[in-house]
Amino acid sequence: MRRFLVAIDGPAGAGKSTVARKVADCLGITYVDTGAMYRAIAWKALNSGIDIMKEEEVAQLAESLDISLHPEGICINDHLLKNEIRTPEITSLASVVAKMPKVRRVLVNKQQQIAEHQSVVMDGRDIGTNVLPCADVKIFLTASIEERALRRYKEMKAKGMAVELEQLKAELQKRDENDCTREIAPLKQAEDAVLIDSTHHSVTEIVEKILHLCRNKLGDKE
Ligand code: CDP
Ligand code: CDP
Repeated sequence: MRRFLVAIDGPAGAGKSTVARKVADCLGITYVDTGAMYRAIAWKALNSGIDIMKEEEVAQLAESLDISLHPEGICINDHLLKNEIRTPEITSLASVVAKMPKVRRVLVNKQQQIAEHQSVVMDGRDIGTNVLPCADVKIFLTASIEERALRRYKEMKAKGMAVELEQLKAELQKRDENDCTREIAPLKQAEDAVLIDSTHHSVTEIVEKILHLCRNKLGDKE
C-alpha cells in the first residue's frame, strides 16, 4: 500500500480516539493521538516546575522532548504516559498549552514528521485543516453535547472517579469554545472533510463507515 493518510477531527467526546485506533488497526497502519502530545507537554511542564503560562519556556520544553509512539500510549524520553495525562487537571492545562502558537509549531512539526514516511490515522482538532491538509480521507466527527458529556461521564464512573454530569457538560462546552475560538488552528471542519454525527451510532457503525470511505479511496489510488 502506498502512503495513506487519514485525518479525524472533532470536539471532545465525539469518539475520535476510539474510532481512529480501530480504523488504524483494521488498515494495519499507525495511529497517532495528537491530543496526547498536548497533554504530555502539559504534564511534563507541570512536573518540571516550568511556569505553564510562559510560552517560550513551554515551547523550549516541547522542542527538547523526544516524543515516540507506543501501542499503549505516548512516550516522552522513553517514559510511557498513560492515565497520568488523563486527569482533569492535565485536561485543562492541555487546553492552555494548545493555545500557544510556539508550542503548536513544535508539535505540528513533529506530527508531520511522523506522517512523512508512513501511513497513519491521526486524530485531533486541526489535522485535516493544518497538519495533514493533503490527507486522503478527512473526517469531521461530532455528537451532541449531551451525548458527549454522557460518554465521558460513563467512562469516568467506570474508572471509579467521582464526577457530576452537569459539571462535565459545562467543562466540555468551555473546552469546545476554547478550541473553536482560539486564533491559531481553531477546531473547524475542513472543506473537503466528511461530516459524521455519531450521536445515535455505535463505534462499530462509525468505524465501518470510515473504512468504507478509506477502501473507496484506496481503490482510486491503485
Ligand atoms: O480526549 P479529548 O478530546 O478530551 O482531548 P484530547 O484530544 O486528548 O486533546 C486535549 C487538548 O489538546 C484539547 O482540549 C485541545 O485543546 C488540544 N488539541 C489541540 O489543540 N489540537 C490537536 N490537534 C489535538 C488536541
Ligand atoms: O477522542 P474523543 O474525545 O473524541 O472521544 P473518545 O475518547 O474516543 O470517546 C469517548 C467515549 O465515547 C468512549 O468511551 C467511547 O467508547 C464512547 N463512544 C461511544 O459510546 N459511541 C461512539 N459512537 C463513539 C465513542
